[in-house]
Amino acid sequence: MTRGRPQITTPEALPDERSAETALRPSRLDEFVGQAKVKESLQIAIDAAKHRKEPLDHALFFGPPGLGKTTLALLMAKELGVGIRTTSGPVLERPGDLVGMLTSLRAGDILFIDEVHRLRPALEEFLYPAMEEFRVDVRVADGGGARAQTIPMALERFTLIGATTRFGLLTPPMRARFGLIERLHYYPPDDIAQILTRSARILGVPTDPAGTTEIARRSRGTPRVANRLLKRVRDYAQVRADGKITAAVAAEALKRLDVDEFGLDDMDARILKAIIEQFEGGPVGVATVAAAVGEDPGTLEEVYEPFLMQQGFLARTPRGRCATASAYRHFGFPPPKSAEQPSIFES
Ligand SMILES: Nc1ncnc2c1ncn2[C@@H]1O[C@H](COP(=O)(O)OP(=O)(O)OP(=O)(O)O)[C@@H](O)[C@H]1O
Ligand SMILES: [Mg+2]
Repeated sequence: MTRGRPQITTPEALPDERSAETALRPSRLDEFVGQAKVKESLQIAIDAAKHRKEPLDHALFFGPPGLGKTTLALLMAKELGVGIRTTSGPVLERPGDLVGMLTSLRAGDILFIDEVHRLRPALEEFLYPAMEEFRVDVRVADGGGARAQTIPMALERFTLIGATTRFGLLTPPMRARFGLIERLHYYPPDDIAQILTRSARILGVPTDPAGTTEIARRSRGTPRVANRLLKRVRDYAQVRADGKITAAVAAEALKRLDVDEFGLDDMDARILKAIIEQFEGGPVGVATVAAAVGEDPGTLEEVYEPFLMQQGFLARTPRGRCATASAYRHFGFPPPKSAEQPSIFES
């Protein structure tokens, strides 16, 4: 399964990308392209918080990788004019790891916890009073050492922003403590083209609209992938063309980079091929598909399937997942009659 080099269309940030992303992050909410409903509710929440001079409600952003969760958290801090401290679920081991951060927050500041579904249970419980009553119970040894005691410590009224790719793994009590819960969706090609136009301007790369459209189509509905492809196509344009990204230059560069014409990544392809080759196109249960591709069922449902359905490659039916006729054609298989009408397929 190892491919030697990272997949160019993976939605996860590649090791050297995290710092490079800063330059392309929108710095105002109105520069954040698309996700109109999310933006609108955030703008209302921001305006209300400013108006009442109160901290923003705790907010949760969820959705597949690379769609803008971290970007939104940073934007919220900017728009509100408050400080932001960043950490993530898996790096926090004990409640003690959070005490310093929490006590350093000033009124209205944001604590951003990425991968919030990976918080240990002890940390989650430690956060509940912090979120509800702006208080933490700090454990201290009681001298005898047998039983620990806790002393309450007051915090400023802060805002917790959580981000997760796996909403399904958040515990119900944790979910219940967020006043604002926003889901990010894959972006339609027009939005991606707009993001690319902005990025190209910042990077100083000449493009024409057909060039950005060509890249947008293959970006898997994901801004992170789009920006990555733009940079790779720019390199090609500079070396092999006159530097300008036209449709022809983009198409040629992406072909050389082995980018699928729909931007499907390795896992997308494995999922669809497994359904076609091992399960006769479906319907097949999500747990079975997950086992066949070695991914966990929740990630399959929350991260991979929404994209494959949006692109018309996968159908969810009451009896399971089915590959569509376009999935068959895409991988060079003749579509069976049943694939045109997955609901009448007999298992
Ligand atoms: N709506 C948008 N408009 C413009 N650029 C965007 C938008 N959303 C994301 N980006 C760009 O895509 C990149 C990835 O976004 P971000 O890091 O916020 O994703 P994420 O959802 O936090 O991903 P992960 O789940 O991996 O943490 C950023 O560099 C950002 O500039
Ligand atoms: Mg992030």
